[in-house]
Amino acid sequence: MNQPDLAAYGPWAVVVGGSEGVGAQFAEQLAAAGVDLVLIARKEGPLEDTAQRCRDLGREVRTVSADLTVPADLDRVMRATDPLDVGLLVCNAGANSYGSDFVDGDLAEFMKVLTLNVAVPMALAHHYGARMKKRGSGGVVTIGSLSGYLGSSQHTVYGGAKAFVRIFSEGLWLELRDAGVDVLHLVLGVTDTPAMRRAGLDFDLPGLVVGRPDEVAAEGLAHLAEGPVHVVSGNERGAAVGAKTDRARAVLGHHRLMSELMKRPADGGRASDVNRGSDDA
Ligand SMILES: NC(=O)c1ccc[n+]([C@@H]2O[C@H](COP(=O)([O-])OP(=O)(O)OC[C@H]3O[C@@H](n4cnc5c(N)ncnc54)[C@H](OP(=O)(O)O)[C@@H]3O)[C@@H](O)[C@H]2O)c1
Repeated sequence: MNQPDLAAYGPWAVVVGGSEGVGAQFAEQLAAAGVDLVLIARKEGPLEDTAQRCRDLGREVRTVSADLTVPADLDRVMRATDPLDVGLLVCNAGANSYGSDFVDGDLAEFMKVLTLNVAVPMALAHHYGARMKKRGSGGVVTIGSLSGYLGSSQHTVYGGAKAFVRIFSEGLWLELRDAGVDVLHLVLGVTDTPAMRRAGLDFDLPGLVVGRPDEVAAEGLAHLAEGPVHVVSGNERGAAVGAKTDRARAVLGHHRLMSELMKRPADGGRASDVNRGSDDA
C-alpha cells in the first residue's frame, strides 16, 4: 500500500470518536507517524487509555470528553483546538444509536441519530475545513458505511445519514482540492470494533467480510490524498450491489443479510452494517 507522508497532515490532528475501535487506530497510526493529537469521545476511561498509548509513541495528546450531539460540547471541542494548528480532521464518531422501525419509533431519538451522523460532521468540516483552506493544506476524513448504499429496516435514518455524508464529502472534495485540502470518505463494511461486539453481531456468518480496525484505519490513511471515496478492501461488491438499479431486489436481499447478522427474524430486530461479498443483496 502506498503510504503518504502523514506528518505533512500535522502538526495536530483532531480525531473525533478517537477512543475506541477504528478511531483509536487512526489515533495510534497518526501518532506513530509523528502527528500530535486531540482525541474526542464521551467516556473518559477509553479516551485516556488511547491517549496514553499515543503519548507512549512520543506525541503530545490532548483529550476532550464531550458528547458531540450537545451543542455546548461541540462548541467546547472547537474552542479547545483554537490555539492549535490543525492539519487533519478525522470524523469517525458515528453510530446507529437508536434502532427502531421508523414510524413506531420516537422522532426525537431519530433526530439524535441525524445529529451525530450528519450535523456533527458538517459542523466540524465547516469549522476545520475553513481553517485548512486558509492555511492552504490539510485533510478531512469522513467515515461511511455500506448502509449508506442500501435502505434497511431499523437503519432508515442511519443509512440515509451515511448516504448524505458520502455525497457531501464528494462535493467538499471538489471544493477544497484546489486549496490543497484532501477530503476522503472512507466506506466501511462490517468491522470488528468494541461497539459492534457489544451489539452482539454474528461475525462468524459464513462468507461475511469482517474488517479489523487497524487495517481499516491504515487503508484510510493510505488513500487520504486520493479522495473522494474509498471503499475498504473486500467490500467493493457490497457497494456495487448498493448501486444496482433494481432497488427492491437489492434492498430485500440486504435485509436478509442484515437479519442473519443480527440474529433476528427477517422482519424485526436491530440495525448494523453488512457485506459478505456476495451479490445476493
Ligand atoms: N464497526 C462497523 O461495523 C462499522 C461499519 C460501517 C461504518 N461504521 C462507522 O465507523 C465509525 C466508527 O465505528 P466504530 O464501530 O469504530 O464505533 P465505536 O467503536 O463506537 O467508536 C465510535 C467512537 O465515537 C465515539 N462517540 C460515539 N458517540 C459519540 C458522541 N455522541 N460524542 C462523542 N463521541 C462519540 C465513541 O466513544 P464514546 O462512546 O466514549 O463517546 C468512540 O470513540 C462510525 O462512524 C460508524 O458509523 C462502523
